[in-house]
Amino acid sequence: MIGEPLSRRCAAQLSSSARKTTNPRRLPQVWSASYASQAPDQVNTWPKGISLERQHARMIRPVPVVLSGAHDRLIRVNRTSLEVQGQSSADASYIPISGRWLRDNCGCNQCRNPETGQRQMNVFKGVVNCDIARIETSKGGALIHVTFGDEHQTTFTQEQLRLRSHSETHYKRHGIVQPTMWNAGISSDPPSVEFASVEKEGVGLLLQKIRVYGFCFVDGMPATPEATESLLTMIGPIRNTHYGGFYDFTSNLSSKDTAYTNESLEPHTDNTYFTEPTGLQALHLLSHTDGSGGQSSLVDGFGVAAQLYESDPKAYRFLSTYGVLGHASGNEGISIQPSHAVPVLSHHPRMGFLEQVRWNNADRAGIDGNFTAVEKWYSAAAKFDALISKPENQYVFQLQPGRPVIFDNWRCLHGRTAFTGKRRMCGGYINRDDFISKYRATNMTEEDIRASTVTG
Ligand SMILES: [Fe+2]
Ligand SMILES: [Zn+2]
Repeated sequence: MIGEPLSRRCAAQLSSSARKTTNPRRLPQVWSASYASQAPDQVNTWPKGISLERQHARMIRPVPVVLSGAHDRLIRVNRTSLEVQGQSSADASYIPISGRWLRDNCGCNQCRNPETGQRQMNVFKGVVNCDIARIETSKGGALIHVTFGDEHQTTFTQEQLRLRSHSETHYKRHGIVQPTMWNAGISSDPPSVEFASVEKEGVGLLLQKIRVYGFCFVDGMPATPEATESLLTMIGPIRNTHYGGFYDFTSNLSSKDTAYTNESLEPHTDNTYFTEPTGLQALHLLSHTDGSGGQSSLVDGFGVAAQLYESDPKAYRFLSTYGVLGHASGNEGISIQPSHAVPVLSHHPRMGFLEQVRWNNADRAGIDGNFTAVEKWYSAAAKFDALISKPENQYVFQLQPGRPVIFDNWRCLHGRTAFTGKRRMCGGYINRDDFISKYRATNMTEEDIRASTVTG
């Protein structure tokens, strides 16, 4: 209730500046709490008067740094208004939360379908009363109750309002974790899970390892296409492309696509010809007879990008700025290109960290720039190519029947050496959104999922 004394917990959490000025009788109540924050260099304020391109260049960096730290953002409650401090520690001014936002984000069963979370009302037509009649608090300010002009009531937690556009919420929304970079040395202890435990406990640990390392083996699987397909469908629907869905093929020289031959393949990501390349790819070698070779390789695209950022930030920027097209044209009646040229290194537009690596020399089409830019792009790309080709950056291994590997195609590059004999491989793709959806569902609490899903 208004005027109720702050609970001990909340009082203890008051920042010193707020404590000095807070007088429950005369001034609005002010709460704060420490919560995980972004590192200072991650505060993505968007300074006025700077071109979007320069802002972009200022923001981008190779890796998300998911840190915990103290940063106070205060909520100020008046009888009929609610204010929250700015989005970064650099911006301490209060911004009022409009009645329309509060009503639009009401989570009650009347405003939202309780099963699906879908909105069941519309604040745009002027028929829903968005005027704030009064605001009350309970539990020492932990809960904020808003009553609108039509007596409709909604309750928010302070946490919800404070963390609305905070990096922590973005991380949860997008299933972002702190990646562990690796190089060839990961061969001594590559991430893996036991198939038996996946069967028993689900894909949570598998997906967590893929989020952190970009790939994971599954040990002790039956070397059959059926088991592989059912493992993939535990994560999400298998993506259908012009090559089909789940595949099970024997390499032979008569095939048109290099992936279906026995030639060597340089490290690459798949689907650079799609607007949205696949999220995950699974490779399971079912058998290799009458021959040898065919060693696989994985490269940590994020790790290599970070190396480029360190050694030549200009080259990094070039690969982050100029779009590149890809194409898939080998099959009769197929001519696929992405909807627009996309840089080799794509960054999260809001958070600024590297989100996706797209690299496929074989499938590359045009570069979106004039000849001066193209030449600079070539120089930058040559540096990236040199890094992915370095033996220190390549984790080389032999695929084994019963031990598929699943990797993040937005992060890892994969390749293989030439081989002789007959290899039978199976596998498939899973869309990025389905991958992250399942990661969130299996690695986050229901409360965190809710707090980073519907409102915002
Ligand atoms: Fe590939
Ligand atoms: Zn409601």
